This record gives sequence, C-alpha cells and structure tokens, in this order.
Amino acid sequence: LLEHGGRLREALIRYEIPLAEWLDLSTGINPQGWPVTGQLADSCYRLPEEHDGLECAAADYYGSDQLLPLAGSQAAIQTLPRLRRASHVAVLAPTYAEHAHSWRQAGHEVCELSADQIERCLAQFDIVVVINPNNPTGAVIERGRLLRWRAALARRGGWLLVDEAFIDTTPEQSLLPYLPLPGLIVLRSVGKFFGLPGLRLGFLFAERALRQQLREWLGPWAVSGPARAIGQAALEDRLWQSGARAALQSASQRLARLLSEYGLNPSGGSSLFQWVQGRRAEMLADMLAQRGILVRRFEQPAALRFGLPGSESQWQRLAAALEQIAAQPMVAVEG
Ligand SMILES: Cc1ncc(COP(=O)(O)O)c(C=O)c1O
Repeated sequence: LLEHGGRLREALIRYEIPLAEWLDLSTGINPQGWPVTGQLADSCYRLPEEHDGLECAAADYYGSDQLLPLAGSQAAIQTLPRLRRASHVAVLAPTYAEHAHSWRQAGHEVCELSADQIERCLAQFDIVVVINPNNPTGAVIERGRLLRWRAALARRGGWLLVDEAFIDTTPEQSLLPYLPLPGLIVLRSVGKFFGLPGLRLGFLFAERALRQQLREWLGPWAVSGPARAIGQAALEDRLWQSGARAALQSASQRLARLLSEYGLNPSGGSSLFQWVQGRRAEMLADMLAQRGILVRRFEQPAALRFGLPGSESQWQRLAAALEQIAAQPMVAVEG
C-alpha cells in the first residue's frame, strides 16, 4: 500500500509523542467537517437502497445527474483501470500517487508527466488522468485545455479522467457542466471539502454505459447506509456549504501568510492546503514532528504539504513551532 497523510500512529511511535498531543496537518481535509448528528440507527438496521434521496441531493449539489455513488472516489480510482484492455496512460505529475499505481497494477503502461508534456505527447495516449486542482501542488489546468484533450482522446475511444476531489470551493472550474460527453469521466469526493473522509463517499460522473459497467463491477450495496444518509444531509445543507467555502478560503490565505512570514513561501496551494517546495523539506518536517506537528512530506520534488489548523489554539501552536524553528540556524526550506 502507498503512503498517505493521516498516518499519525506511525509518527507517534517514531517521535514517542502520545496520540492526543499531535496536531495533524498531514491531510488536505477540512478540519471543521460537516457536523454529523442525528439518528443513524435506522440506516444500519436495513440494507442500503439506491435512489433513497442521495442521488437527487448529489445531482442538485453537483449540477449533473450523470452520477454513480461510490465508497469514496478511491473506489473508482482502483476499478476504472480494470475496465479497459492494456492502454497507454498519461498521469499528471507530481500528484496523488494512487492513480498511477492503480493503472500500473492493472497492467497498463503509465507515464507520469507535466501538463505541457501531456499536451505535446497527447497522440501517444489512450487515457489521460489529471487532478484538478492538483494535490499536492494546487495547480489548475484550465477547462478549455482539458476539453480539447477530451475531444482528441474520445476520437480514438480514449478517456480523460479528471479527479476533482479538491474543487468544491471553486466549482466554476469543474467539467461537470459538460457531461455527458464521450470519454469524459469526473470524480468527486465527499471526504475533503465536507471533512468526512471516514464516511467513504464519492461520486463518478460519466456516460451511462460506463456508469453501468462500473456499477456491475462494484456489486450491490457499494455505499453503506450511514454513508448514504449522512452524505445526503451534507449535500443538501447549502447554508453550511456557503459558510465552509468562505471559511476555508480565508483559512488557506491565513496559512499562506503565516508560512511566508517564516520564509516558507508556498509555491502553490488550494483552499484546503499549502504546498511548500525546498530541499530542506525533510529536515523541517522532522523539526515540526519533534514538536508534535505532522505535515505531509514529498520527495520528488522535495516539498511539504500543510493542511489547515482547525482552531485558534492550533494556529497558535503552529505559529509558535515555526517561530522556534526559525530561531535555529540553517533551517529555511527555500532553495
Ligand atoms: C486527489 C485525490 N483524489 C481522490 C482521493 C480519494 O478520496 P476519497 O476516496 O476519500 O474520495 C484523494 C485522497 O486523498 C485525493 O487526494
């Protein structure tokens, strides 16, 4: 299994700091998730049923009914490669590692490329996978460019797979209004913006035939009853959504300002994280971890991803740690 953020238990052993004392900034997940309350027993005592209201709530929220609910967008990431014969696949890099891994595991030939490299070599590929906005860099590929790639791929029966897990605060960048279009597949996650990663709920948007194929492959009850019930309520809660959008945007700007104050100028980011590149990334991650703050470290290129603190005391704790670290010689990550 690949390494991910949120692996607090490993850090706990390495740094000998008890679980409850950690500030976990290693994931790009809303730290103030949709408040789960209410009576869920009913959804546990019955088998889940399709069209119980979740599909309608999702169609309203996303603005497209060309959808299939999934146990997290990860379910599609793992399954889509099994629905095609051996293909040439371009995956945007650097990015969420599960995409390239899943296509390779299913026997496809995978190249990890920048957006400009994909554009130049498009004719060589059957499948292009992009994450928009990208995790961890926050880079956005503009819609016109993606639609051109989609058209070129569809002409030879290919797919453009766009993972929009981090797009909820900038929905105007989404490709969902263009669905259904041949070869266009869009993934959305309820884990990030709604702050509900443990719910395991996401959606695939695509033409009907592909949705049917995936539905068959995943089998009955692919999404649990509690996930369906909580997901529906979160997707319908417009008031919470508009508050969360504004709060995340301002928290993300605050994080960028705080990091910049200590010479850690983000080279990218989204409303859910900031991305700081630099060759001393490993050392800085270690110094933060010694102070009980977990961030996600990347090796290629050397960089750190900082998620958002979730309370004023967490902000103060991060600021104090950065202050202490900056007071030591030779620790700027830049360069
Ligand atoms: C870009 C991206 N896509 C998809 C996922 C999977 O999310 P989920 O399966 O919780 O919807 C992740 C998880 O970190 C991610 O970073």
